[in-house]
Amino acid sequence: ATGQLTDTLRRPLRDLRISVTDRCNFRCSYCMPKEVFDKNYPYLPHSALLSFEEITRLARQFAAHGVQKIRLTGGEPLLRKNVEVLIAQLAALRTVEGQPMDLTLTTNGSLLARKAQALKDAGLQRVTVSLDGLDDAIFRSMNDVDFPVADVLRGIDAALKAGLGPIKVNMVVKRGTNEQEILPMARHFKGSGIVLRFIEYMDVGATNGWRMNEVMPSAEVIQLLQSELPLVQLDPSAPGETAERWGYADGSGEIGVISSVTQAFCRDCNRARLSTEGQLYLCLFANQGHDLRPLVRGSASDEELASAIAGIWQGRSDRYSELRASLPADAGPASGKRVEMSYIGG
Ligand code: GTP
Ligand code: 5AD
Ligand code: SF4
Ligand code: SF4
Repeated sequence: ATGQLTDTLRRPLRDLRISVTDRCNFRCSYCMPKEVFDKNYPYLPHSALLSFEEITRLARQFAAHGVQKIRLTGGEPLLRKNVEVLIAQLAALRTVEGQPMDLTLTTNGSLLARKAQALKDAGLQRVTVSLDGLDDAIFRSMNDVDFPVADVLRGIDAALKAGLGPIKVNMVVKRGTNEQEILPMARHFKGSGIVLRFIEYMDVGATNGWRMNEVMPSAEVIQLLQSELPLVQLDPSAPGETAERWGYADGSGEIGVISSVTQAFCRDCNRARLSTEGQLYLCLFANQGHDLRPLVRGSASDEELASAIAGIWQGRSDRYSELRASLPADAGPASGKRVEMSYIGG
């Protein structure tokens, strides 16, 4: 393994996020607004998707370049048919490359009650579940398909029982929409061993109509929590981490805040994203990817694949969130054809 691959800002490659489908059974307004993602939306045809073998072959080259964490995303990854077969193939990379590899998945939880045990059996280590509130009316309207909170909570329970922990729960905070859910969510998960993380609503993609005035800065979230549940800041557990960690002063667990709008964390960003059809994106906010599918589907050798990946990473200079921070606070989303989060994954 080379392991020492770095980009133009001297950032190593450590985290590979693989999107396995661009489809989702939810229509969260901040991600896949119904008006855009309707029945006429041009989702990827089956022939465009990387096969499990193609994904695993690529992942092996990434592992050789120092990737230590693989996260499956979507869309909703549990909608991909037989995803546990892919998980089993990826789990085998842990031993092939001889280094510990974290294998995890981000899900909306809707299918978790049914699938948790099979995912665990296939070799998945842990899951992160998205949940934007405990109030059923608020949650049903945010997922915009009338999906009930209780079913997601059942999914989380099933994941706990299957041993898919430590489990994290992601809550996107939208001012004016679900800020009243911050305290109830914190109370609910405090002491459960589950790490709740509050995510600033981001201007990712080109369809969610993002406005700065709907962002609730993490500093305010922390202030609100402190008013009832005293917190102390914790040290980061890994370089380049997305979340800032806070612990409950009474020792009953921790929470996190992910502040990509108010406190960009590009400096140590070690994440690459592989789309469902094999486009490699070096930033969540990129408007273009690097097409690896012709290589993996053609006659390229593993060495050629590895050196193509190396060249792409070595040319990387992305740091979108840092650059956005220097825009005026009332600026709308920057120009153009930005890739959708449902396409490259969170
Ligand atoms: P773990 O802490 O190991 O579970 O991984 P993680 O922090 O990467 O968790 P997760 O994948 O759940 O990411 C949480 C959320 O942070 C994502 O859904 C995104 O909203 C946001 N996020 C993750 N990576 C990036 C990034 O590179 N840039 C920005 N701007 N946001 C990110
Ligand atoms: N801003 C912040 N987080 C988002 N997610 C999706 N879209 C956005 C956005 N615009 C989150 C989801 C989930 C993860 C995959 O990304 O809620 O937790
Ligand atoms: Fe689906 Fe997750 Fe996007 Fe919501 S945030 S629409 S659950 S992919
Ligand atoms: Fe990484 Fe781009 Fe996110 Fe910055 S904005 S942390 S470079 S993915």
